[in-house]
Amino acid sequence: MPSFLEEVRRRRTFGIISHPDAGKTTITEKLLLLGNAIQLAGTVKGRKTGRMATSDWMQMEQERGISITTSVMQFPYKERMVNLLDTPGHEDFSEDTYRTLTAVDSVLMVIDGAKGVEDRTIKLMEVCRLRDTPIFTFINKMDREVRDHIEVLDEIETVLKIKCAPVTWPIGMGKAFKGVYNLLTDTVHVFTPGQGSVVPDDIRIEGLHSDEAIALLGEDMIAELDDEIELVRGASHEFDLDEYLRGELTPVFFGTALANFGVRELLDYFVEWAPAPLARETDARAVDPEEDVFSGFVFKIQANMDPKHRDRIAFMRVCSGTYTKGMKMLHSRLGKEVKIADAVTFMAGDRSQVEEAISGDIIGLHNHGTIQIGDTFSAGENFRFTGIPHFAPELFKRVRLKDPLKMKALQKGLQQLSEEGATQLFMPLNNNDLILGAVGVLQFDVVQQRLRDEYKVECIYEPVSVTTARWVYCKDSRMLEDFKRKAAENLAMDGGGYLTYIAPTRVNLSLTQERWPDVQFRATREH
Ligand code: G4P
Repeated sequence: MPSFLEEVRRRRTFGIISHPDAGKTTITEKLLLLGNAIQLAGTVKGRKTGRMATSDWMQMEQERGISITTSVMQFPYKERMVNLLDTPGHEDFSEDTYRTLTAVDSVLMVIDGAKGVEDRTIKLMEVCRLRDTPIFTFINKMDREVRDHIEVLDEIETVLKIKCAPVTWPIGMGKAFKGVYNLLTDTVHVFTPGQGSVVPDDIRIEGLHSDEAIALLGEDMIAELDDEIELVRGASHEFDLDEYLRGELTPVFFGTALANFGVRELLDYFVEWAPAPLARETDARAVDPEEDVFSGFVFKIQANMDPKHRDRIAFMRVCSGTYTKGMKMLHSRLGKEVKIADAVTFMAGDRSQVEEAISGDIIGLHNHGTIQIGDTFSAGENFRFTGIPHFAPELFKRVRLKDPLKMKALQKGLQQLSEEGATQLFMPLNNNDLILGAVGVLQFDVVQQRLRDEYKVECIYEPVSVTTARWVYCKDSRMLEDFKRKAAENLAMDGGGYLTYIAPTRVNLSLTQERWPDVQFRATREH
């Protein structure tokens, strides 16, 4: 039996950031396959095998009203235990995606080799920057005619402001894709087509100039590759573990998730280099993951969409010690001791009740309304984890009631839903509007549906001229009062009672910032 410390040190907890369609789902499936968490990958769409793939499970789970299984996927790989946290990406993109990134120790960035750096990746990268999260990069779709790779690396460096250190380099692309070359070990990893849904063969040739490599690739291709590699080495950086751990440099891998190639090479290095659980700050002290006394924080609350099961699941990142079934924890915000008998743990994509979880793991607590995002649980010590913020929404709508007599119920509902992180609420100082803010469009539908189902309130949305929000802070109380008077028409209180500037346009925001240099306009707010 490995000791507690050995168990903690072998944990690797991470999430994937990417723009929709870059290949996050596909690569997730291949990682699960390599981790033996699933036996046979189905293609994401147009399945031919007739077997069940994870995407089917997801859909089934959603239809049954439970969609938490895929929120966290734990699987062993080599000597490590990997926790992969889902970061919703398509229409289900929301603040949860951002906040999940505060619960991981590192990130895998997937880039479409044909498209390069895209919008959503830029945004997610900004969130990673808040904690200087270490980042691995996978450049996908080498089985297609993609863009010049050096140009893509250059784009990552200039747009995302992170140094690139290629570890593997693709040999050919599209139909002529032959595999990847490991720049660190001088090894050719040979691509065998047709192995997209199984654990692929691991064929390696030592030495790019070996007879075997020449026989496979031909002199011309090797000469071409030699030139390219010389160029790459000149234009990029060498891998440096410390720089990676500080979030300043990213190791880069190439491959094709669909054909399941290059992913193993990535995963092998990932489990070596990616950090084990990191220390977490609280308002009192830093908590070390190797401390054996339990603590954790809630970063996401997921409502059960099945009206028959009103409970919600609160996702908690364990930060130190061990969760054991039936243990008592201090709910720090309420100052109350609670007994947790039935936490959900996540092993290999299965929703099961495991007896134990340790630093770096995620557990799901059944929440009957007493848990909010950002809540800290501990073995008794009174502190609160920091760094689990609200993020400034980018979409806004005014809420109108169909039945004006239901105002109380509406306010209560919106208040609770905002505490849960489903939406954010803003109440202008100058009028009685209720303005909802969200990071993803689907959040509005979810709120509308839940208000109807859980609070019996019918509401409709109207457009409102707000583009972005910033939380306002100012040390000088007189200046703050002055600001409040002069900028009143664009000020609101948020659901937590914090002063917020709701800007009609970006230009208006920058002008106001220029005009009030001593007032801080923050894009995040701590819970
Ligand atoms: P996402 O979760 O990041 O949104 O991406 P997802 O994995 O769903 O992949 C998006 C599309 O890209 C999928 O096609 C998927 O099959 C394809 N894809 C992923 N990896 C690769 C790759 O390495 N090579 C190629 N050629 N395609 C890849 P789809 O949804 O079936 O759409 P379509 O392309 O068939 O229209």
